[in-house]
This record gives sequence, structure tokens and C-alpha cells, in this order.
Amino acid sequence: MRAYGHSSRIRKEDLGSNNSTFEHVGAIVPTTAMMSATKSSYPDPQWWKEAVVYQIYPASFQSHPGSTSGWGSIKGITLRLDYLKSLGIDVVWSSPICQSPQADMGYDISDYKQIDPHYGTLNDVDELLGELNKRGMKLMMDLVVNHTSNQHPWFLESCGSRQSPKRDWYIWQKPRSFRSDGTPEPPNNWAQILGEANSAWNYDEKSKEFYLALFTPEQPDLNWENADVRAAIWDVMHFWMKRGAAGFRMDVINLISKVPGYPDAEETLGPGHKYHPGLKYFVNGPRLHEYLREIHREVLSKYDTITVGEMPGVSDETEILMTVGSNSGELRMIFIFDLVDIDKPNVRMALKPWDVKEMKGIITRWQRVMIENNGWNSVFIENHDNPRSVSRYTDDSDEWRFKGAKLLALMQITLGGTLFIYQGEEIGIRNAPSTWPIEEFKDIETINYWKKCNDLYADDEDQMALGRKIIDMKARDHARTPMQWAPVENAGFCDPGVKPWMRVMDDFKTINVERQVKGNDTDELSVWQFWQTALLYRKEHADVFVYGDFQELSTQDPKTYVYHRESQNGERWLVVLNFSRNEVEWIMPEDVEIDFWLCGNYTKGHVEKPTRHVVSLQAWEGILGRCK
Ligand code: NOJ
Repeated sequence: MRAYGHSSRIRKEDLGSNNSTFEHVGAIVPTTAMMSATKSSYPDPQWWKEAVVYQIYPASFQSHPGSTSGWGSIKGITLRLDYLKSLGIDVVWSSPICQSPQADMGYDISDYKQIDPHYGTLNDVDELLGELNKRGMKLMMDLVVNHTSNQHPWFLESCGSRQSPKRDWYIWQKPRSFRSDGTPEPPNNWAQILGEANSAWNYDEKSKEFYLALFTPEQPDLNWENADVRAAIWDVMHFWMKRGAAGFRMDVINLISKVPGYPDAEETLGPGHKYHPGLKYFVNGPRLHEYLREIHREVLSKYDTITVGEMPGVSDETEILMTVGSNSGELRMIFIFDLVDIDKPNVRMALKPWDVKEMKGIITRWQRVMIENNGWNSVFIENHDNPRSVSRYTDDSDEWRFKGAKLLALMQITLGGTLFIYQGEEIGIRNAPSTWPIEEFKDIETINYWKKCNDLYADDEDQMALGRKIIDMKARDHARTPMQWAPVENAGFCDPGVKPWMRVMDDFKTINVERQVKGNDTDELSVWQFWQTALLYRKEHADVFVYGDFQELSTQDPKTYVYHRESQNGERWLVVLNFSRNEVEWIMPEDVEIDFWLCGNYTKGHVEKPTRHVVSLQAWEGILGRCK
């Protein structure tokens, strides 16, 4: 990709009081021709490319009337289908609903063909599928097959005896050594992903070997080297496809192949840490692509599917294109983590500084990579493993949260790829407040992390404060608070008098679906109304926003993200997003003239702004215009 030269934006506060804007606009104003790489081919249209996917976290989405569990349910999802349809959703992806002891909120499955009683029954799923179908919508299942629950009959059989016929279904290794007191040492130094103070290996007293469980001890990794394991997984996939699912989100699918011999990880966490992230030895491991092609051959090729592989820890273009290139014969798309890991050093529960330029760089990179190489993007900035986007990428204060949430919506609806919205993002739910006592945080990762802080730093006030800050900024719990439906008890998530499994956010009386669907403001759309309108624009102009070319016009600029999208027939739209609290002016390239500004996050309808030369934006303002 070519670099575009100089910054074409000037901040108001950068101007001295006697300076006119014109003087500062100064020298060269580039033309878009100077900035463009040519685009030769456009992607083939497909339903799964244009689909808007909505991720449901079933525990927190909607309980059904009469339920006393305080958990969301499948019946609850069915009750909300009209809501989702009216927002503009085509595909519902629910995080796991299969039978599970819930050590990791369903990402530990003990029966792939049964529904967890918290959520309902197979009949409820059939009813959900029928109701989705009536509305022209589809269901994507969460396929968790890197590991099972330690309560899965396969593991119960594998455990306990080296002679078990299912022994080889999991990854077993002898102790590396024994301490003087006879305690066995794990085969290597890999840390648990959801509790980095602990080993990823767990000792089975009975059979005197360790099993590998990368996430928690309750989630033993399956041994994909074993062909019977793979066949059992194909069987599970056929089961759900035949029942009516449209496809799968595949949990950490790039971790299924481990480097043989399980080498020690580099000691990246530094002294004082016994265990270290072993990613290098299991992220996109040696047999990954072989397995993904087998999945395609044995299962996916037999149906018309939507598939998205969760692939943390990889940003190598060649590797990624092997999976999502149009002729890859692997998956339709993957989740690339560069953006949601922007503040991650080597483990998730930590902080790294970042800036808007870096954020823009990541988005632009993947837009261009897929365009230039015939691959396909997923567009997402939230999910159940990340803090809320409005808190993370913009300003979630009462003053700015709505502008920020709509700015992010505008960015996403104008990016190429399949769009994923996470529950609550459509009303701008923000992170839980730092005043919440630690007991309100329920996620196993947060619990392990806080325990580690207490074990290591109980007497160190600064370290403990940092630990709490990391929880306030990064905990997965922020995305898991109950959905805010209405200004009534329990926010309408579950019946009055029932205690929700997790605390409802304190702001539910002002931030809720009921209020935002109605829209109380005469001058502005609510976040929900903005999403709804913007999704219509995206669909109406899919040739531009889903499939079109993408060129960034603001690479050197520290705060403003500007890009244009262009359809195959030359229709071009300009997106100008101010990712700062300052007012800014953006100097348009000489050859750009706007026909009309279609929408923005400050107004209800068309935006009144200059159509040439210089356009100014208020704090966190974003606008979308069609070019002449
Ligand atoms: C990724 C899932 O999104 C996360 O919630 C889970 O903890 C791990 N995979 C393990 O399944």
C-alpha cells in the first residue's frame, strides 16, 4: 500500500489566535488519485457477506416470563426476534447453549447434542429455528471443539487409566520431573490462558500423567491428531446443520494443532513467573490448515454455510489468507484480533498504550489486505470477551457516550466485510463502573486474575490499584452484564423479584432499549435509531459499503479517520470520523466534492456542512457523504 503523504487536518487548538485557517491549510492538498491504489476485481456477492450478524450472550440476553433462574434463555431469545428483525439483523449467533457445567460460561461443553438446562431444551431450539425462519433469519451455533468440559463423557473415560480406549482423545504427558518431595512437575512451562499464574497442565493422580487444558483445568484440550476425535466432531457439526443451523462461529479454532514435543515457552512474563504464554506452540500450529480443509471437505462443503473462525494471536497475512482467501476451501472468514488486542501486551489482563493512528492502521491494513488478495473480513469491535467499545475507543462519559457509540456505528457500517454487532452495542452500553465491588465480577478470568494480584501484591497498594484498574478496563464481565431492555426492575431482563445472575448496570433507567427505540430527542437519533438507519444505508448501498474499494485519506493524521468507499460502477462515498474530544478541521483533497452529506452522529437527517475544501467536525463527530 502506498503512503499518502502529509497530514491534511489541522486542529483548532493548534492555530494561534491571529492565524486564519487558510494560512494553516498551507501547502499541498493531495488529490485522491495521489492516494489510491487501483482495484481490479470486486468480490462475488454472497448472502453471508451481506448478512448482519448479532451476537447473543445467552446468559445475559433475555430470561422468559415465569423463569426464576435469573439467567437468559432460548425462549427469551425467541421472544426478541421481532426486536432483532426491526434493528436489521439477519443472523443470530448465540454463545454456547449446549450442556455445560459452566466453568467458563458454556465454553466447556459436556454434551454437544443437548441443551444446558439453564437455557432450555432441544425443543426450544427447534422453536427458535422455526421463528427465525419465518422472519427470514438464520442461526449460527458456537462450536467449541478445541476442548470439551472435564465432565464430558469422552474425558471421563479418557481420565483415570492409560489403557482407556479414549485415552488418546486428549493430550496426556508424563511429568517432566519430580520435586524432592515427590510432587510431579508439569511437562512444560505453558501458562493457563484464563489464569496465567497457573500451569496449563493438570495432574491426574490415578493415571500419574498430566493432561493439557489451555484455558482452565475444566477445559481439557482435545487431541485433534486422533482421527476418531475429528470424526466425532464432524458428527456434531452435521447434527446441528441438519437441525437447521446456518453455520458456526468456531471457538479458538486456530489452537487445535499443537507443536509436537510441546517445547517450553520463552519466559516473556519475566522473573517471578513460573509459567509463560505458550502461544507460539499452539497458535496456527503445523496441522491447522490440513484440519480446516478436512472440516470443509467432510462437513461444510455439503451445506450453504456461514462460518467464522475465532483466531486469536495471528496477524500474519499469508496465514490468514490461507483460511479466508476466496478459494481457500477452509472458512468464510475469521475474527482477526489486532483491533481488540490493541491494548494487550503479552497477556489479556494487562495494559499497553495505544493511539488512534495505530487503530486506524489496523483497520486500514485489513480492509486493504482482503481487497488486494480476494479474502473476506469480519467487521467487529465487541464480543463477550472484551470491554465495551464506547468505553474503550471513545469517551463513555454521560456527555459523550451517545456520540461515541454512534461514531463507532458509522465506522462499522461503512467498512467492508460481514458485520457483527454484539448485544447492547446497539444502545451504547458501557463498562461497569469502577465503584462496583470486586464480588460483582463473575468471570473466571477476572477471578483468577484478582487472586493472582492478591497472592503477589496484597501489601503493595500501587500494584493492587493497578490490578483493579486493569479489571475496570479489560475484564470480560463488562460485556456480560444483563441486557437493558426497559426502565423497570431488573431492566426487563428477568421477572421482578428474581435475582439476575449478574448485576444489572446502574444506568439502566436512562440507557435502555425501550427508550432508545422511541427516541426522546428531537434533534438527534438515539444510538439504536442510528444503528437501525445506518444498517438500512449499508444494505441499500451494499455494492459500496460491503463490497466496494477502500482508500484511507488520513494516514498521517493523529485523530481523524477519513476514508472513501467506491463501488465497481464508480459510486463513491466519503466517511470522516473525528476520534477526539477536540473540534477539528479536515481539508478535503482537491478533487473531492460532496454531493450531499447523508448522515452524521449529531443530527437526525442530512448534515449541513460545506461540500468542498474544508469541513469542520465537533468532538467525536462522524459524517458520511456521497461524492459527486
Ligand atoms: C474463546 C471464547 O470466546 C472465550 O469466552 C472462552 O473463554 C475461550 N475461547 C475458551 O473457550
